[in-house]
Amino acid sequence: MKKIAVLTSGGDSQGMNSAIRAVVRTGLRHGFEMYGIKRGFKGLMADDFIELGSREVSDILYRGGTFLQSARSEAFKTEEGQLKGVANLKKREIDYVVVIGGDGSYRGAQALTRHGIQTYGLPGTIDNDIPLTDYTIGFDTTLNVVTDAIGNLRDTMSSHERVSVIEAMGRNCGDIALQAGISSGVDAILIPEVNNDIDKIADEIKAGFDRGKSHSIVVVAEGAGNAEDVANAIKERTGLDTRPTVLGHIQRGGTPSAFDRVFTSRMGHRVIELIEEGTYNVALGMQENRITYHTFDEIFSAENSIDDRLYKVFEDLV
Ligand code: F6P
Repeated sequence: MKKIAVLTSGGDSQGMNSAIRAVVRTGLRHGFEMYGIKRGFKGLMADDFIELGSREVSDILYRGGTFLQSARSEAFKTEEGQLKGVANLKKREIDYVVVIGGDGSYRGAQALTRHGIQTYGLPGTIDNDIPLTDYTIGFDTTLNVVTDAIGNLRDTMSSHERVSVIEAMGRNCGDIALQAGISSGVDAILIPEVNNDIDKIADEIKAGFDRGKSHSIVVVAEGAGNAEDVANAIKERTGLDTRPTVLGHIQRGGTPSAFDRVFTSRMGHRVIELIEEGTYNVALGMQENRITYHTFDEIFSAENSIDDRLYKVFEDLV
């Protein structure tokens, strides 16, 4: 019986559990033996495998986090670490590995392919920073978490006539800030993909208060600055009462949205179809509502950037 192992790696994201469940349940249905590897590439090197039946993945569809747990591994970046992991796979006669993670995890997945392991990637990161997919796993849920948080902040900022500066995650990608900015109707966003003019932003906030606005909301992507510095800069320029809020890891938690559950179920199901078809060493994603796949080389040579049309939507609706 052929064997498939699945692991989650890097920063966790809501929907990873749902993706594991879909890979495992579809794999079992197709007659594969299924394994989970604990703590990502760390567990691969430490030979930390568990066999997964249908029951092992029940009751996880709607849970945030990853029951296989996750880690970032420096050791797996080395040839020595990779050979250790590959030896464990060979010893256990694992034929295929499914890696659920972001950019760094895809580098690990690509290393496995170089060592002859047939490997698949699923884009697990809240950052939405993987090229050639419209969405990454957890991004939609995070967007909802950030949108709710901004709503809560708006209530208190309005009572106290304050400016709220909210720092969102995303590494070098401004997608969380941009799309939460649109969904929340905020007054300004600062993202790494564009030139942000703090003088202009401060002038517009001041003008808004002069016209009678009771509050102002600014979202800064962590790749473009930090909430405290931006709040100080706005306060200096406007004299308005300003408060920074760093949303932090709250953004990575919570029950996955319906979108993330369906998206991950579709990708997990498709991985097994690709294995059956003999297609391997690819990463999956969703483009124009279709599940697509590309080689790791294609992903690494493509550029990730925000959708310019979405930025225009933001600018025109402010
Ligand atoms: O890549 C996901 C992410 O949450 C980023 O948005 C953030 O910069 C980073 O991980 C935080 O990493 P850690 O959980 O190691 O603090």
